[in-house]
Amino acid sequence: MTIEAFAYRAGSLSAETVSLETIATEVGTPFYCYSDGRIRARLRAFQEAFRGADPLIAYSVKANGNLAVLSIVASEGAGADVVSLGELLRARRAGIPGDRIVFSGVGKTQAEMAAAIDENIHQFNVESEPELLVLNDVALQKGRRAPIAFRVNPDVAAGGHEKISTGKAEDKFGVAWAAARGLYARAHRLPGIAVKGIDVHIGSQITALEPFEAAFAKVADLVGALRSDGVPIERVDLGGGLGVPYAEASAVASIEDYARLVRRLADPLGVRLIFEPGRFIVADAGVLVARVIYDKRGEARDFLILDAAMNDLLRPALYDAYHRIVPVRQFAQSTMRSYDVVGPVCETSDRFARQRDLHELAPGELVAIMDAGAYGAALASQYNTRPLIPEVMVRGDEFRVIRRRPTYEEMFAAEAAPVWRK
Ligand code: LLP
Repeated sequence: MTIEAFAYRAGSLSAETVSLETIATEVGTPFYCYSDGRIRARLRAFQEAFRGADPLIAYSVKANGNLAVLSIVASEGAGADVVSLGELLRARRAGIPGDRIVFSGVGKTQAEMAAAIDENIHQFNVESEPELLVLNDVALQKGRRAPIAFRVNPDVAAGGHEKISTGKAEDKFGVAWAAARGLYARAHRLPGIAVKGIDVHIGSQITALEPFEAAFAKVADLVGALRSDGVPIERVDLGGGLGVPYAEASAVASIEDYARLVRRLADPLGVRLIFEPGRFIVADAGVLVARVIYDKRGEARDFLILDAAMNDLLRPALYDAYHRIVPVRQFAQSTMRSYDVVGPVCETSDRFARQRDLHELAPGELVAIMDAGAYGAALASQYNTRPLIPEVMVRGDEFRVIRRRPTYEEMFAAEAAPVWRK
């Protein structure tokens, strides 16, 4: 299934066949809008690329955990990669079975481990020896064995930005390469642990295959070494990280090339593969729609001030991330201007784009910030007491609000001025 999720139809940028102007009128701006068909198409493209291998595709919930997104994941037969009790509960509530859930993260608590064991999850990706020992205890208290893989740190540089690279020796993630065999030998002897596999995740927004190749080749070697140590390795979890093209002309490795690389290295091992893609599945299935409030002519720059801000989409402020920005109303031709596209939040970093050439836009016009489906709503906050913005799902010619805008009363409801005894 190929689907053009966002395209101009009758002069208006549309999600599938619904005009974003129609949604804006009904829901108000700003809002996130996702395409059901596009999320499914990306899941299926991943599944298709590994056809015959039957991998577990454990969608990384942190990229976009809305229950509506997760219910699509569930209905496509995929699983989930979770990193907190909250994500575990979300995945289960959306109908993702426990045995398709992997639990990652460096700081799992005992309560999280206990809940995950009760849900019979597929595996824990263990990131340290102390965590291993705590998990062993928690499992034994329940008379169970916890299925594990160690997340190993291959000391490979990768990732679109320093803040999202995870596979270097100095990063907090994974167990040190040199310690891995010793840890596996120890884990294999623990009565509350069942060693199942090995896990690696080197970073996010990786656009070339070389870092994957370097890391996966090391993992393949380690599988051989562990087996010769008598440790059974039946699964290999290769994490997420495959990037998407954010800029107009950026070149990104395709899922087909990625799959070819993986299969060349992994097929000889005879293991079940697990993947944890997040961004690949949802990034280009979502846009952030905002309205222009002012066109402010500054001394050195012109500013297009939107009603969306860094609290709604943090990626540009946090990682200098590039997102295409396009007008919702299609312009045949018009004056182009160079704008800094900013929001109303009181921070200089509240800027979506710098000196971007755009059609001249009057107050009231709508713009779409593209490729905002991953780590958009998920990273949003209510900074400046701005309500979390609604999320909308489109399927065909229908749309539904999948997260409504809270009222101010709801935003304040969990807070209270203290009442002191004296
Ligand atoms: N597995 C693990 C263990 C992870 O830490 C991550 C992402 C993923 C899978 C999914 O990676 P993906 O396929 O989405 O690249 N907020 C940042 C990205 C942070 C990624 C954190 N970990 C951004 O907006 O670029």
